Amino acid sequence: MLLQVKEVTHTYGETRLQWRSSKRAPVLSGVSLALEEGECLGLLGTSGAGKSTLGKVILGLEKPQAGQIVFQGHDLYQSDRATRRSLRRDLQVVFQDCYSSVNPRATAEQIIGEPLENYERLSVQEQKRTIGGLLERVGLKPDDMLKYPNQFSGGQLQRINIARAIALKPKLIVLDESVSSLDMVNQTHILSLLSELRADFGLSYVFITHDIKAAYSISDKLAVMEHGQVVEMCDDKDQVFASTHQAVKKLLAAMLPEHPRYRSRSLGSI
Ligand SMILES: Nc1ncnc2c1ncn2[C@@H]1O[C@H](COP(=O)(O)OP(=O)(O)OP(=O)(O)O)[C@@H](O)[C@H]1O
Ligand SMILES: [Mg+2]
Repeated sequence: MLLQVKEVTHTYGETRLQWRSSKRAPVLSGVSLALEEGECLGLLGTSGAGKSTLGKVILGLEKPQAGQIVFQGHDLYQSDRATRRSLRRDLQVVFQDCYSSVNPRATAEQIIGEPLENYERLSVQEQKRTIGGLLERVGLKPDDMLKYPNQFSGGQLQRINIARAIALKPKLIVLDESVSSLDMVNQTHILSLLSELRADFGLSYVFITHDIKAAYSISDKLAVMEHGQVVEMCDDKDQVFASTHQAVKKLLAAMLPEHPRYRSRSLGSI
């Protein structure tokens, strides 16, 4: 098992001691999931459900008040510094807003080079070659490494973010609404790029979105969150059509009008 999320509970801005006596509803409560190597989990739910928070907890960026993240057999928040650093190398992220997740004054070469400089000691020439190769792998040109973020379109910049995320050949990438701000054509292109990369590198994804259509197209498994809890876990994504949960039905209803293909399979359950 690559990743295990075990009974994770979290409330922002409270220490562990305060939390026990707190009346505030937790942002995550008792969340458990598991992901095998090479799998893609679609994490669905309406705004405020706690998806991004869970993403941050999985990435090691937000320590939960209770519960565990076990990644590659190690407890992410209890490991020593060296282990944690090597686990973090295998955990990468791509956020929705591609413009604000990069430094506007850095070139594509510097943006993609950052994780390499943190973890690998390559010669200047080797690093340039690696970055050129990564740019080609995500459908851009090696010469693009000299450009700045404002010289790229949203879709191109998201490819730069993906190139940065795969630079260290990680095991797991958390994609938080990574295609949500793109138009339909670009969404489709990026989703197929992500699928190719997954196959090539044996990557696993946690694909966070409120868009069930995008999640269904890329994922093997689907989890639906509501009010900080996983209310539906579909180990086979097609089980989602048989869900009786109100939150899942709402997500499906939003997808149905534009997708006659899905209508016949799910009529029985709606
Ligand atoms: N840094 C923070 N400090 C305090 N509260 C936060 C913080 N980040 C998120 N929250 C709160 O936690 C709850 C869950 O937020 P989260 O961003 O995880 O939801 P989400 O499912 O990703 O929503 P969206 O679909 O809108 O991105 C919300 O009520 C939000 O206001
Ligand atoms: Mg979010």
